[in-house]
Amino acid sequence: MRGKWEVVRLWVLYCLLLSGFFQGVFSAFNLPRPPWKKQSNFGSSVVFPLVGNVYPKGYYQVTLNVGQPPKPYFLDIDTGSDLTWLQCDAPCVKCIPAPHSPYKPNKNVVKHKDPICASLHSPANHPRHTPDDQCDYEVEYADHCSSLGVLVRDAFPVKFTNGSSIAPPLVFGCGYDQEVPASEHAPYTDGILGLGNGKSSIVSQLSSLGFIRNVVGHCLSGQGGGFLFLGDDVVPSSGIVWSPIVRGSSEKHYSLGPADLLFGGQATGIKGLPIILDSGSTFTYFNSKAYKTLLSSIKKNIDAKQLTDAVNDKSLPVCWKGSKPFKSLKDATMYFKPLTLSFTKAKNIQLQLTPEAYLIYTDKGNVCLGILNGSVVGLGDVNIIGDISMLDKMVIYDNEKQQIGWVPANCNKLPLLS
Ligand SMILES: *[C@@H]1O[C@H](CO)[C@@H](O)[C@H](O)[C@H]1NC(C)=O
Ligand SMILES: *[C@@H]1O[C@H](CO)[C@@H](O)[C@H](O)[C@H]1NC(C)=O
Repeated sequence: MRGKWEVVRLWVLYCLLLSGFFQGVFSAFNLPRPPWKKQSNFGSSVVFPLVGNVYPKGYYQVTLNVGQPPKPYFLDIDTGSDLTWLQCDAPCVKCIPAPHSPYKPNKNVVKHKDPICASLHSPANHPRHTPDDQCDYEVEYADHCSSLGVLVRDAFPVKFTNGSSIAPPLVFGCGYDQEVPASEHAPYTDGILGLGNGKSSIVSQLSSLGFIRNVVGHCLSGQGGGFLFLGDDVVPSSGIVWSPIVRGSSEKHYSLGPADLLFGGQATGIKGLPIILDSGSTFTYFNSKAYKTLLSSIKKNIDAKQLTDAVNDKSLPVCWKGSKPFKSLKDATMYFKPLTLSFTKAKNIQLQLTPEAYLIYTDKGNVCLGILNGSVVGLGDVNIIGDISMLDKMVIYDNEKQQIGWVPANCNKLPLLS
């Protein structure tokens, strides 16, 4: 044992000396930095392949290994919430059908005095807890699904883009009571990967442990699949449109805005929409007024010779059919115009939504509008940009610089790992 430790120590020392030496040489002679030595202190990321699609699956998932020894779980990626949770045998009071058997905790419960617990609770909510009590949690999502359980801490083995593997202990929810409203069909998942900007999110935890910068991003492919990354190592150095994150009423969300809505490059009269980016939402939601305006703009633009209402297609609330069934989404997109969200507080910042970013192609050969009426699901004035409108783009949520960026990208190709 001892011998091995000596070797490791020497090796570390050697590496430190070597990197220090080269750094010295390169800065002393003002030479360009060698490509293997990045400027940032972190310079590493974790990249996960994604599976899923907008339609018919309705989710994008990662496989995450958790525990000692690690076991795999499929988790929906959600930039709209902070806490990661797994269905858990604590025992499980109410679990939904899932791909894997529930996670088994092993006396690794997080206590109330833990700062991550505090970040999820306001003291007023839990006046009767003592610091050594276990930390309970409850999360409820916009679709009224919910998870209730207790916080635990366990190993999350991850491989960094620089080739190193570690298994830091991270805090997550052990969910033993999941509720899904009768109107929803239960998602087939082991849990949710929370990627919000709160203290409890996995990206914030990895960043406060010093492993990565507090940056998360995704590249969702329109053909299905794609990738997720934590850290800023794979972010391209140019071509990204950046927009500041707005702090306001919806403190915990990745909010942008306000934005004006254009249809085919023309003003629609819809101005100042507050926008939230949420990878946990399959579709895009507009408030009732914007939705109504959008729907009438699209309908006015439709040539009745090419497209008619497909009232029998119940895939989504509004569908159209062609004179004969479309062979693909591409077959139909030429009959639709692009949408633009034009952010008013910053010059020239626009999010372009081509027809592919707001239409789905159904098994009946029709197309349906993937922008839905937020009032129907009780979203009020909130406007959510969901997966459908983020396809084939790299979307980067930079919590350090408080900005969100996007750039067209080939999401079928995983960034090169060393
Ligand atoms: C790779 O990155 C991780 C996370 O930042 C870091 O802990 C590790 O020391 C790095 N490994 C090498 C060989 O630089
Ligand atoms: C949007 O939903 C609200 C609430 O259900 C409804 O009152 C309104 O008519 C809907 N708008 C359209 C254009 O369908």
